[in-house]
Amino acid sequence: MSSATNIHPIFHRILQRSDKEQLLRQTACVIWLTGLSGSGKSTIAEGLEKKLHENNFLTQILDGDNIRAGINSNLGFSETDRLENIRRIAEVSKLFLNCGIITINSFVSPTSEVRKLAKEIIGENDFIEIYVNCPLEICEQRDVKGLYAKARRGEIKDFTGITAPFEAPVSPSLEVKSNELTIEESAEKIFSFILPLIIKK
Ligand code: ADX
Repeated sequence: MSSATNIHPIFHRILQRSDKEQLLRQTACVIWLTGLSGSGKSTIAEGLEKKLHENNFLTQILDGDNIRAGINSNLGFSETDRLENIRRIAEVSKLFLNCGIITINSFVSPTSEVRKLAKEIIGENDFIEIYVNCPLEICEQRDVKGLYAKARRGEIKDFTGITAPFEAPVSPSLEVKSNELTIEESAEKIFSFILPLIIKK
């Protein structure tokens, strides 16, 4: 029997998402950035958030490093833990979504399986998958956090791109080639793409 047996969600009795979107004058969605470690997801997320903020949209960034330091501090990088990481993040995103807030998620989310799970939890109409595409060689060359070097030395196991898989999304909503664009250009490209979706109709 499921552990959720005696739980009675009260969502039907509380204010609706549409009431909150009306208040905020925006349409919420989850902007999900996927890509290798060091591909620029977090920096692009910051640039995008700034742009949205300047245009009067209410946003929340959810980021791998922050979430893993807090709510998901008990999780590692095995396949099972990554799935649980993404499951919790998707559930948290749904709460923000129901609050009318645009979340910008930057997670490696390396496999079709984890991204499918996120999409199922969030709902496909509200899930905007953006592939931050940067070749592994370049991420490794930059190695901003020094993690690729550690992974090559065998000091980190299951490291995405080195000893754990990264499956590029097959049909993302949008792709940004972060090694060919500046941070500003990548953020601008995403901003222009989502603007028609988040403007309150
Ligand atoms: S995910 O695969 O479960 O989506 P998540 O985005 O939360 O990963 O965390 C990735 C971040 O954790 C990376 O940017 C990197 O800084 C750090 N990290 C530490 N160990 C690993 C690892 N084995 N594989 C990938 N990233 C790792």
